[in-house]
Amino acid sequence: MAFLLGIDIGTSGTKTVLFDEKGNTVASALQEYPLYQPNLGWAEQDPEDWWKATYLTIREVLHKSGVNPQEVKGIGLSGQMHGAVLLDKDNNVLRKAIIWCDQRSAAECDQITAAIGRERLIEITANPALTGFTASKVLWVKNNEPEVFANVKKILLPKDYIRFRLTGEFATEVSDASGMQFMDIPKRQWSREVLDKLGIDRSMLGEVYESQEVSGKVHRSAAELTGLQEGTPVVGGAGDQAAGAVGNGIVKPGVISSTIGTSGVVFAFSENISIDPKGRVHTFCHAVPNTWHVMGVTQGAGLSLKWFRDNFCIEEKRTAELMGIDPYILMDQEAERISAGCNGLIYLPYLMGERTPHLDPNAKGVFFGLSAMHEKQHFIRAVMEGVVYSLKDCLEIIKEMGVDVSEVRASGGGGKSKIWRQMQADAFGTEITTINSSEGGALGVAILAGVGVGIYDSVVQACEEVIKVKTRQNPDQALHAKYQQFYSIYGRLYNSLKKDYADLAAIL
Ligand code: XUL
Repeated sequence: MAFLLGIDIGTSGTKTVLFDEKGNTVASALQEYPLYQPNLGWAEQDPEDWWKATYLTIREVLHKSGVNPQEVKGIGLSGQMHGAVLLDKDNNVLRKAIIWCDQRSAAECDQITAAIGRERLIEITANPALTGFTASKVLWVKNNEPEVFANVKKILLPKDYIRFRLTGEFATEVSDASGMQFMDIPKRQWSREVLDKLGIDRSMLGEVYESQEVSGKVHRSAAELTGLQEGTPVVGGAGDQAAGAVGNGIVKPGVISSTIGTSGVVFAFSENISIDPKGRVHTFCHAVPNTWHVMGVTQGAGLSLKWFRDNFCIEEKRTAELMGIDPYILMDQEAERISAGCNGLIYLPYLMGERTPHLDPNAKGVFFGLSAMHEKQHFIRAVMEGVVYSLKDCLEIIKEMGVDVSEVRASGGGGKSKIWRQMQADAFGTEITTINSSEGGALGVAILAGVGVGIYDSVVQACEEVIKVKTRQNPDQALHAKYQQFYSIYGRLYNSLKKDYADLAAIL
């Protein structure tokens, strides 16, 4: 029997899953780690934490499953996108990684736009300069920590740092590399022009592979530490969103996905490069050769509910611990007691600024419409609804771009909540489905590994074999009409507050 390993280096933790060749989960393990926020709007993580979580979870799944490491035929890596891991000449990490949701690099975005020109930048990188992308984070280090930048020899994305620790190779693949903003998206390779204009040496970046290609093999010391067989192939893998899309079967037109992880993403497959002229959604290379994707990203999706849970649901956490269940189950039950629209309480989920559709690092979270009759359960539901409205913002732009949206597949931690899925069905006015596996990104990169080592013929064929629709939820048309009214106020609130956000940022 052949087994495939998928490793997903997420923001809240690393999840490692061992699959059989039919895509069934054989064993899985999760290790969490901290997120550091040394300043308002900053977000950093320690790459050593990712590595520790990786080797511990690999050991755990091998141990739990009892599978002989020789039978693990391939490994795929997925991970949070955009983070900048900076290494010196001895391959030591120079500073904590500045990760995807960090918002400190607005000035560097202006610098990038000025250096390349807005139109040319979009022509090459398919996107405007954004604080979320790696390039502006690297330039921030260059501008603000020149002593650190002087020693930078390699710039790696989170999962590509783990590849380096596993295989010794400096490499990346097209889907994650797209989010660095150093790449020519139509050509699927580094852009000499962008690198020259930003003063980044090509030698700092790894080799770019297609996602399913073998990029290296597990070396001896990593084999000893993890329990894997030395020489096990590691394929390119994918950024977490493209990986999750493969793991949900978003590898052909028609079906799109809506993922609530720490961030929230609406993801559509595209056979050609399709760019939103306003830059509100990202266009990146997909993990399927010669295809691309469009995705809208909301910064604070699962992050909003987690923030609410950790600060205001201490009781739920305690009770859940006693009951041996997840506190989100109790929070779902509280949200269910409240009617759609939360009696006028509307939440804007901009705790970490916002990408789609506002592209505004200064945006902040808001509860609007508060009255004395509102209780904690209204807040829980309002947070969930606010996240759904932000996903609807993404969906509407994708529809505007002419993408066929006949079915939306829900995934991510938030996709496990039946009530959160129903809110999506009702607010979007579209059928929401889930599939037979909830492993998302880990399954996606295990599929890519299976293609890379010849177990499957192609990503599309593998998805057809492995992925089946499991649940379907239809929209309630009356609730859809009701949500449309709240959604339209939600949309206007940002515009009313835009200037206040900027004024607030100026005094912080
Ligand atoms: C995508 C993005 C996030 C991170 C973390 O552009 O920034 O989805 O990958 O999940």
